Amino acid sequence: MCLMSDQAVFRRKSMSMLEAETRQELHKYCRSWRRNGQRIALVPTMGNLHAGHLALVKAARGLADRVISSIYVNPTQFGKGEDIERYPRTLEADRLALAQAGCDLLFVPDIETIYPFGLENAVMIGAAPDLSSTLEGQFRPGHFDGVVTVVARLFNLVSPDVAVFGEKDYQQLLIIQRMVDDLAYRIRIHAVPTVREHSGLALSSRNSYLDKSQLETAQYLQAVLRDTATRAGEAGVELSVLEAQAAIQLREHQLAVEYVSIRRAQDLATPNDNDQDLRILAAVRCGKTRLIDNLKINRACNSGG
Ligand code: PAF
Repeated sequence: MCLMSDQAVFRRKSMSMLEAETRQELHKYCRSWRRNGQRIALVPTMGNLHAGHLALVKAARGLADRVISSIYVNPTQFGKGEDIERYPRTLEADRLALAQAGCDLLFVPDIETIYPFGLENAVMIGAAPDLSSTLEGQFRPGHFDGVVTVVARLFNLVSPDVAVFGEKDYQQLLIIQRMVDDLAYRIRIHAVPTVREHSGLALSSRNSYLDKSQLETAQYLQAVLRDTATRAGEAGVELSVLEAQAAIQLREHQLAVEYVSIRRAQDLATPNDNDQDLRILAAVRCGKTRLIDNLKINRACNSGG
């Protein structure tokens, strides 16, 4: 029987995008695509989609025959005091945007689908300690355990050939890549560069919490990081001095600094003089809103001064 005739189970919500809520619905679609030899790309999201997410979907289109995007606001990655109820939910608009971006299937599971034995009894996965205990991990303890736990579940449910994540959450990207390598998932992780406003502000669902004057303030996060990244690229500079200066500049712009740090891009370790592939990462609070950003640094070789 043709899959699409089963209207009670599968619904075409908009244009040609399919939608699944349960494991069974999802598996039926995935099975039929695989039978036809089609490759599947997964774009996991928590919804409230913006152009950054849609860039992930567009990248996914070029990597596989079918694109599945999931929208699931994952409770296990929210810490105490992080209000999951306040997280913006915009399913109707997200549905339309995903369909227009060329998503084939939207997976919108409920909590029982992702955590069938309940949150209390869920098997949790631990993010790699070396990557997850630093930077974001110091300010959001347990956050990355929740991320890898839900991403592993999505990987197991979809079995994608490739999964697409944004560089905006650079630490998350490294942690997910490590999970794939360590647990031997046969899934390629594809990273997509951060999409920015004209002002340079990285697109984020949290930007919707900022008022007009905070939006102006927030753009200094990227401006300071860009300036620091340029200076860090020069040979012989003291990175700790640059970090301290960046923190001062951010505070001068009324951004409350949680961290601003230059790390080795591959593993977030403190760089030594010979490391050339670096990343500057920062988290600040603009009013009550927490913003993160990061930029690549190409450092000139330091050997020989
Ligand atoms: O980056 C996000 O939106 C989330 O952390 C993710 C990867 C969808 C897991 O919930």
